[in-house]
Amino acid sequence: MSKENLVGARQAKNDEFYTQFVDIEKEMNAYLEYDEKVFRDKVVLLPCDDPEWSNFTRYFAQNFERLGLKRLISTSYAPNSKPQSAFLNPTLFELEDPQYDEVKSAANGKIFILDRDVNGDHKIDVDDLQWKYLDGDGDFRSDEITALRDEADVIVTNPPFSLFRPFLAWIVEAGKQFAIIGNMNAVTYKEVFPLIKENKLWLGVTRTGVGFMYFEVPVNTPTKQGQKIENAKLLQTIGNSAWFTNIEHGRRHQPLALMTEAENVKFSKHKQIKVNGYQKYDNYDAIEVPAVDAIPSDFPGIMGVPITFLGKYNPDQFEILGMCENSDLYGLKTRIYTSAECKNAYLNKFGKPGTYDLNASGVIVANEIFEKVYQRILIRHRKVTK
Ligand SMILES: C[S@@+](CC[C@H](N)C(=O)[O-])C[C@H]1O[C@@H](n2cnc3c(N)ncnc32)[C@H](O)[C@@H]1O
Repeated sequence: MSKENLVGARQAKNDEFYTQFVDIEKEMNAYLEYDEKVFRDKVVLLPCDDPEWSNFTRYFAQNFERLGLKRLISTSYAPNSKPQSAFLNPTLFELEDPQYDEVKSAANGKIFILDRDVNGDHKIDVDDLQWKYLDGDGDFRSDEITALRDEADVIVTNPPFSLFRPFLAWIVEAGKQFAIIGNMNAVTYKEVFPLIKENKLWLGVTRTGVGFMYFEVPVNTPTKQGQKIENAKLLQTIGNSAWFTNIEHGRRHQPLALMTEAENVKFSKHKQIKVNGYQKYDNYDAIEVPAVDAIPSDFPGIMGVPITFLGKYNPDQFEILGMCENSDLYGLKTRIYTSAECKNAYLNKFGKPGTYDLNASGVIVANEIFEKVYQRILIRHRKVTK
């Protein structure tokens, strides 16, 4: 196998992560707490799903009446299009159904629909789900699934990790409401950050630092850190997973409680602030704030804050102006270093030849040494409080 194929296969394998019921419920509850009618009369689409065992399908089917859904549509990807995994065999549910077709079972995706009481028990629930084979393999980019997307109001899923960017673009171009799981690192993608800045996308409530999500993985997954076995299922945590959504939840409207600049310098638990105060960048008209709890409440200018800020971001309290990055996409740089300056900075800092990529982030100069800080988001208070 060529190197590229090997990497491709590894990535594809990493896409087989299955979300637990509790993590879906926790996230949807946060939206419902903010607006109990959030799903009322809505068509909910769950693409990239595995409806026969998926907790997404189970959650929405089970709660169909309580949420007041109009229609639930859930689609799966054909086993032949998936990488080798422990989940490829047809389920008993499919095998025992009169429409079971051996060829289609492997080559086609499936669609499950719930919109009415089929079995006449006067309630609409999991038992009323109807299914058939899709014409194609269920690839979200196909015309068949794109037509379902266009019919939907809300899209919820854990898309394949390796296709997160195209999947998000596919939803955003259709202007749908969504809640999808991805890696927290995606906030810095050039396709994602502008959406966050424009308040068209934000983090959900379950994410790194708030509660890790564990995903069910195929039993033949090699042993790795962050695994545990529960109820005979192999679970794996990916420390950085988070929900990305444009559905409102209360958490993001809670203001961050902050101290003033003077109070921080006096009482901060961060040594850097107590010793040096807030340092100004050499290449942005902004100050360096090394931790979210050190954001001064009364600073009127631009502040560079860690990415974890996004988990606490309240758009009524702060404005996001951009991010420190190489190409100055947000027009906030006040200085661009030449390659000679980057080489000089390396020599001065490390005492040997090399290049220090100063343009990649905010830079602080102390004792003539140029120090690049970690990745920063540039923010400003909407209103300072003294
Ligand atoms: C991370 S898993 C999540 C599955 C499920 N939504 C859950 O969390 O329980 C992603 C799913 O998308 C499927 N998939 C991979 N590539 C796909 C594509 N191009 N179109 C649709 N589904 C795809 C994978 O086979 C897998 O079932």
